[in-house]
Amino acid sequence: MLKDEVLKVLEAERPTPVSGQALADRFAVSRNAVWKVVNQLKDEGHQISSVRAGYYLKESSDRISVPGIRQYLPVSETRQEGVSPEVPLDVVVYESLDSTNNEAKRRLGAGDSGNLLIVADTQTAGRGRMGHTFYSPQQAGIYMTLSVELAKPLYHPEQITLAAAVAVVRAVEPYLSEPLQLKWVNDIFYQGKKVCGILSEGITDLETGLIQHAIVGIGLNVRPTEFPEELESIAGSLQLSAPTRNEIVGRITGELLALYQDLDSKEYLQEYLSHSMHPEKVREQLNNT
Ligand code: BTN
Repeated sequence: MLKDEVLKVLEAERPTPVSGQALADRFAVSRNAVWKVVNQLKDEGHQISSVRAGYYLKESSDRISVPGIRQYLPVSETRQEGVSPEVPLDVVVYESLDSTNNEAKRRLGAGDSGNLLIVADTQTAGRGRMGHTFYSPQQAGIYMTLSVELAKPLYHPEQITLAAAVAVVRAVEPYLSEPLQLKWVNDIFYQGKKVCGILSEGITDLETGLIQHAIVGIGLNVRPTEFPEELESIAGSLQLSAPTRNEIVGRITGELLALYQDLDSKEYLQEYLSHSMHPEKVREQLNNT
């Protein structure tokens, strides 16, 4: 689709302007057609400015989009090498969903079993562990679910969550002034407040009883956020103004896909341990694997 292609170029060049003529030539369309899709993108909330040299995406533009996320995936084409090489990684973005984990399960139920990343700008019924809800306001956080076929069946289901926490640390900590802290097993804290929760679910192989397909949902409060009164004392956000949420989603996904290659590796458990608020639990895990 021309709109996605134009957005992809603007994302890649951001914040350098790209001329309407260059875009028209590249996609063999008229300048008017380019102008139309740029206006559509603006209507969707992408902050695109026009200057003499062309169109550019402002650094502050923080709309979640498929081209924007792909920009930061280690492999930008649909085929994600390494995970299950013959299975591509599809990326879908929604303005609003009940829950990205629910959507992953609906798709699996409908027979869609490939590797899939689902991201929503807001969730109306975000789910946490043990029946809790996850507050998911629009434009402030990241609500993502990665649904992946595992290279090997899993003996220790908690490894999915541990690896996800390490993926978030690797992707986000370089932008922070203080380290993140991991609370066994699925919570991430920053400056004393919970900023991220992970909800992992699995599809079990009936013959082996082992987990074969992982659904890992990550909710991360990125921008300054006002929380409902009951969450005020517990929940916080990273308070980051940059990088974009697309970049964070892409980096977390890249780290996760790499970690899921070998969930038995002890390396990421050591990383979890070094950030852990309850190191004894992690040591137990290290001894059991
Ligand atoms: C928790 O804090 O107990 C876990 C919260 C997990 C929230 C994420 S947001 C994306 C995905 N979709 C959901 O409904 N939940 C997870």
